[in-house]
Amino acid sequence: MKLLITGASGLLGINLAIEAMREHEVIGVDRGKLKSAPFRVLNTDLLQRGVIDSLLDEAQPDWLVNCAAMANLDECEEYPDRARILNAEIPGEMANACAKRNIKFIHLSTDAVFDGTKEGAYTEDDKPNPQGVYSKTKLDGERAALEANPQAIVARVNFFGWSLSNRRSLGEFFVNNLSEGKNVSGFTDVIFCPMWVNHLSRMLLEMLEKNLSGLYHVVGAQAMNKYQFGVEVARKFGLRESLIEPKSVEGSGLTAPRSHNLWLSIHKLSTDLGREIPEFSTGLDEFYTQYRQGYPQKIRGYQQ
Ligand SMILES: NC(=O)c1ccc[n+]([C@@H]2O[C@H](COP(=O)([O-])OP(=O)(O)OC[C@H]3O[C@@H](n4cnc5c(N)ncnc54)[C@H](OP(=O)(O)O)[C@@H]3O)[C@@H](O)[C@H]2O)c1
Repeated sequence: MKLLITGASGLLGINLAIEAMREHEVIGVDRGKLKSAPFRVLNTDLLQRGVIDSLLDEAQPDWLVNCAAMANLDECEEYPDRARILNAEIPGEMANACAKRNIKFIHLSTDAVFDGTKEGAYTEDDKPNPQGVYSKTKLDGERAALEANPQAIVARVNFFGWSLSNRRSLGEFFVNNLSEGKNVSGFTDVIFCPMWVNHLSRMLLEMLEKNLSGLYHVVGAQAMNKYQFGVEVARKFGLRESLIEPKSVEGSGLTAPRSHNLWLSIHKLSTDLGREIPEFSTGLDEFYTQYRQGYPQKIRGYQQ
């Protein structure tokens, strides 16, 4: 298959591209960071009007995966208009263009569409109640995509892995700071389900191959708080877990509101894929193996 990936320089985009290259032809879309990627790259700013049709005309993909977003929560609070265009309007335009051309479309959304007040795991049937600009625009993007194209897949995700900037994911945050002997906070009152980004990439490809459609929670199989995640990372990498201070997210100085419970059920996903979702510990082992094998440096090299 020919796969077009927007946001190819992002944490998910780059890792998805590398995973997909094993079996598919990959074309990435970026804004100029990827200078020597091992796949074809089209240079486009998605905020320019009319670019979606031109991209699809040029790439002629079978599948489009939209990994482009304004994904920094505090930046979304600062630039709500840009967040709305990128996170809410463009997904609808892409979904519409793909429906017309018979291109299978996946759009990425977030666990943060929920307000986090539920006891237990959220299912796809639970009512979202987004709290900040990021979450609101992401929820609008989900709705726009599925309204324009019911055959599309919308995946609510949360993941960790190695990025081009070396500081995009929470996993990198703990590894980098603890390696330098720095004290960091680990929030005990934010529960999430982190998935190793390469597992996520493989899940997305499997969902495409199985021709699934609709809304899915595509997160890790274990719920944990962010402090516990930091401790697990520290132990795996042989770093000092005592440098992580257990703290509440309240009063932490972050601009955008954060939901406390983002435990998402993966029952629908594992039922429809007909298999178990990989364990967190397996993903963490692989994240560490990539580190040992120089994977972070390899992907950063794609910018030179
Ligand atoms: N990371 C997580 O754990 C997490 C959690 C929940 C949901 N998500 C969702 O998962 C998806 C991928 O997230 P991520 O962490 O991979 O994000 P990321 O690392 O911030 O990547 C975002 C990508 O979007 C691109 N982009 C931004 N503005 C653009 C524009 N105007 N034109 C073209 N490209 C543009 C960026 O390009 P530049 O490199 O040029 O800026 C980058 O490649 C997003 O939809 C996000 O909302 C992520």
